[in-house]
Amino acid sequence: MHRASMSKLIHSRRDFLVHAAKAAALGISGTAALSGVSSFATPLTGAGQTSASDELIPYGAAARSDALVSDLPYRDAIIANCRMIVPESELKWDALRPTRGEFRFEKSDAIVDFGRQNGIAVRGHTLAWYGAMPGWTDEIADRAEAERELVDHIETVVSRYRGQIPSWDVVNEPLAEWPDDEFAFRPSIWARRLGADYLSIALREAALADPDARLVLNEYDVEFKGPRFAARRKALIALLRSLRDRGVPLHAVGLQAHLFADRAIDRDGLQALLAEIKALGLDVLVTELDVIDYTLPGRVSERDAMVAGVAGQFLQAVCDVVRPKAILTWGLSDRYTWVPIYFTRRDGMPNRPLPLDADLRRKPLYDVIDEFRRKPA
Ligand code: G3I
Repeated sequence: MHRASMSKLIHSRRDFLVHAAKAAALGISGTAALSGVSSFATPLTGAGQTSASDELIPYGAAARSDALVSDLPYRDAIIANCRMIVPESELKWDALRPTRGEFRFEKSDAIVDFGRQNGIAVRGHTLAWYGAMPGWTDEIADRAEAERELVDHIETVVSRYRGQIPSWDVVNEPLAEWPDDEFAFRPSIWARRLGADYLSIALREAALADPDARLVLNEYDVEFKGPRFAARRKALIALLRSLRDRGVPLHAVGLQAHLFADRAIDRDGLQALLAEIKALGLDVLVTELDVIDYTLPGRVSERDAMVAGVAGQFLQAVCDVVRPKAILTWGLSDRYTWVPIYFTRRDGMPNRPLPLDADLRRKPLYDVIDEFRRKPA
């Protein structure tokens, strides 16, 4: 790495740590002083009695390392609200492996350090995906090379964070958009070179690199009514059974839950999937909850209520069958969300998919999540 950029990174890391020291001090007073920033982390019931935090379903959010350094109110809100965080991009191949010969851990280390300093657990995302792959991986020419690269990556990354990252999205979004048979996989360098074996190779290597880590297969678009979503649920169940039948290590399924306010939740279909997952002895996590509101009316109060309503329907359907091991949203505040990348509103208004608005104020979605995470076990 170029010396200047290394010194910049070190500076930003030192800067991050200096901020950490300041924010840790400020964080406590700052959080208390932050007007309007409510906290999932201080469990209060209606009677004002505190409930033991271990009775609650842990809440967390995807976090961004740059914002944790540059945006202290955001950082305080993460500290005040999250029992866990997941790096939104810093543990993906394109962030860690910009060139074939090197691993760049500065940003992922910074987030893991932040979690440790603030008593916040860190989830790992993700080890085997079609997305966020650096260009050089297109050169992976054959099966042997693909297996070597995938195994080497997982061994290097998971063992580095052994004991620091207790839960990994080992395989992310393996299913084709519309699976037309039980094992239809999303095109990726791994599926192309290794076929269905890439999942077992990845999961087995992750288990070897950190035998204590919880291994998760993470998927989206299994929550709604419609033939494509039904096909995805069917393919997911077939895939999970296949992994179980071959003794492949797997502990949980992540429901990403990127919900659409204008798509109907398929309560029966979703609950049948959850029952199958439970019957396979697998846990469930809600890993990336947000509500994509780009087709909703512009009036904020109306839109926020509809967003909360969809999330409530989803969480009710899930919690009636299983108690999720965690509820994470894909971001904490509308200030930092991926949604407008693909789903910008025609009226030009900012999207409002997350529990806190862009000014870190609580929204109805926050209250819905808070209600479900307090559901008694
Ligand atoms: O870090 C670079 C920066 O240096 C560069 O200047 C900038 C402009 O090109 O790009 C930055 O990287 C971006 C990265 O986010 C970090 O902000 C990538 O271009 C951008 O593609 C990437 O988007 C992320 C996307 O996954 C792809 O990795 C989104 O933020 C993230 O929210 C999204 O998350 C996915 C989950 O991993 C899987 N489930 C769906 C979810 C939403 O798409």
